Amino acid sequence: MISKETIERVQAAADIVEVVSDYAQLKKKGKDFWACCPFHNEKSPSFSVSQAKGIYKCFGCGAAGDALTFVMNVDRISYPDAIRQLAKKYSIEIIEDVSATNKEERTQIESLYIILNYAKNFFVKHLFETEHGRAVGLSYFKERGFSDATIHKFDLGYAPDAWSELHKEALAEQYSEEILEKAGLITKKDDNKVFDRFRNRVTFPIHTVSGRVIAFGARILTNDKNQPKYLNSPETEVYHKSKILYGIYQAKKEIVNKDNCFLVEGYTDVLSLHQAGIENVVASSGTSLTQDQVRLIGRFTKNVTILYDGDTAGIKASLRGIDIILEEGLNVRICSFPDNDDPDSYVKKVGYEAFLKHIKEHTNDFINFKTELFLAEAGNDPIKKAGVIKEIVESICKIPDTITRTVYIKQCSDKLGISEDILVAEVNRKLLGDRKKKTENTVNELLIAENELLEQELNRPHDLPEVNLEDKFMVREKGLIYLLLHNHQLKTTDQELSLIQFFYNETLDLEFSDHYFGQILTQLKEVLGNGEDYSQFFENFDNEELKRIMIDLSMPSHKPSPNWGKHGILVPDEHEDPFALMHSLILQYKIILTEEMIQDKKILLAATDDYDLQNRYLRIIMQLIDLKKEIAKDLGSVVWRL
Ligand code: GTP
Ligand code: MN
Repeated sequence: MISKETIERVQAAADIVEVVSDYAQLKKKGKDFWACCPFHNEKSPSFSVSQAKGIYKCFGCGAAGDALTFVMNVDRISYPDAIRQLAKKYSIEIIEDVSATNKEERTQIESLYIILNYAKNFFVKHLFETEHGRAVGLSYFKERGFSDATIHKFDLGYAPDAWSELHKEALAEQYSEEILEKAGLITKKDDNKVFDRFRNRVTFPIHTVSGRVIAFGARILTNDKNQPKYLNSPETEVYHKSKILYGIYQAKKEIVNKDNCFLVEGYTDVLSLHQAGIENVVASSGTSLTQDQVRLIGRFTKNVTILYDGDTAGIKASLRGIDIILEEGLNVRICSFPDNDDPDSYVKKVGYEAFLKHIKEHTNDFINFKTELFLAEAGNDPIKKAGVIKEIVESICKIPDTITRTVYIKQCSDKLGISEDILVAEVNRKLLGDRKKKTENTVNELLIAENELLEQELNRPHDLPEVNLEDKFMVREKGLIYLLLHNHQLKTTDQELSLIQFFYNETLDLEFSDHYFGQILTQLKEVLGNGEDYSQFFENFDNEELKRIMIDLSMPSHKPSPNWGKHGILVPDEHEDPFALMHSLILQYKIILTEEMIQDKKILLAATDDYDLQNRYLRIIMQLIDLKKEIAKDLGSVVWRL
């Protein structure tokens, strides 16, 4: 258990802007910071961070919370793990409440983490502090050109050349044999003899996204052909090989910065690239990529560049695996290296600049790459060529986005020398076939899913804080009139549109709820609709109450911002563009309207027993929810577009 004091210190230290910056590029606009939401796919930023309030909020997907919930959600880790991660970031010492839980009472998972961390320290200690470790392990790393900084950054170590050194020492420290075994650190032979799993090897700890050690890879130091070059931890309760990528902890920040992830094969490729200053790199550790691993990358970027060793045989074997990257909607590119070179050896040979230059010049889009590779092999053989088309169609069908698919079809039809129509037909036929398989018996499933979605949506706290409905509308109506009153002659930079015309265009179908604001709006629209001169408009009210309102609003002391903030209105800085401010207000207004319509339909839905009618309401509500999301997306980008 982490002590309460530690948690409080972490909460006090964690600056939401600093924390989010590790995952997204924040830009300051007005009081707040904005970025593309790390939780959902979007092109224009609707994710806002308020430093003063210490919270974030996405107007696109509704994600919201503080620094801790951010880390928990973005890294998908538990609360204690999030505390640990932030403590590390802010160099806060973690004090465990030993009184509450002792070694035995800790959960099994907790114990596994602890023993694995202990083992990591044990190996590091043996690498640097024992004579043998230095002579064998450290000198090996040095020979391969790894600096102390790199060795420390990746917690590299050395497992001593003894049968059960780790086992012995851990038991002496009161760790249990059972946990050592469950962590995959020791093996028991039939005769109950116990051995350390890793012996006389250099060790590469495998970290989770949040930096916890969950397993080891260990490389042999001799040329013994009877032993595997690399020995890995077995699957354990904390280590699932298919779900983790080597180096993700050290790379995630730079992956976000560069908006690209290099994927290599081996541990040493990751190390060498880091040492050369290329830090957005992870390794699949020799196995072919899994869906979970692709999703892991997808949390940080949608762009993957695979750095391949020279030999084409290896490439062909893993092409199928790459299709799953496409399936997850990521963009895949491939860079190959000269024969007999892997990224590790190549970057050591040529250095940072030339390495990046090579990548720049030799990176090919995956589908192009695949097309060229297969075509070269097929030569002029028509049967083989038909096979190539089938292969390529297969990959193109994996791409979820229609537009991207279309672009590829165009490119490939050129390369393959067949007409676009034929390729389109091929792709459609395959897609339809795939879909047919899926749609069997799904009508019911769809309805259930729809219901669930609805349920979630309706239970989710509203994007805009609850205030008295009339107020919600009125406060914005007032804001809009205020803006018009003070800026109606202002024109866009291209002189095309005045603010008042802009307002008119955007609100053709809008009616205000407040009696007086409604009247102002109606009259204003009339004037504008008739093309009449509106310059005198705001002075021409004969109704006393309207006059009073207009005078009140025209007072310079009547600043909109303070009150608006209270009502949860997204208020760009008051010095900012009135056009953007107005656009934002109009969109907010539309969102609330939509919410109200959803509410109405909900009441109707609850009131009827007619199944068909229920379904119809359901569908309308779903459409309204979609509409609301669309508007919210726009809203997120309005302020940004300034
Ligand atoms: P070096 O030979 O030290 O340069 O390692 P490397 O990382 O370049 O290794 P290599 O290209 O031979 O293999 C790529 C990756 O495959 C390694 O990083 C390992 O993850 C994995 N691998 C290679 N050999 C073995 C092995 O014998 N057993 C296991 N489990 N994995 C291996
Ligand atoms: Mn190598």
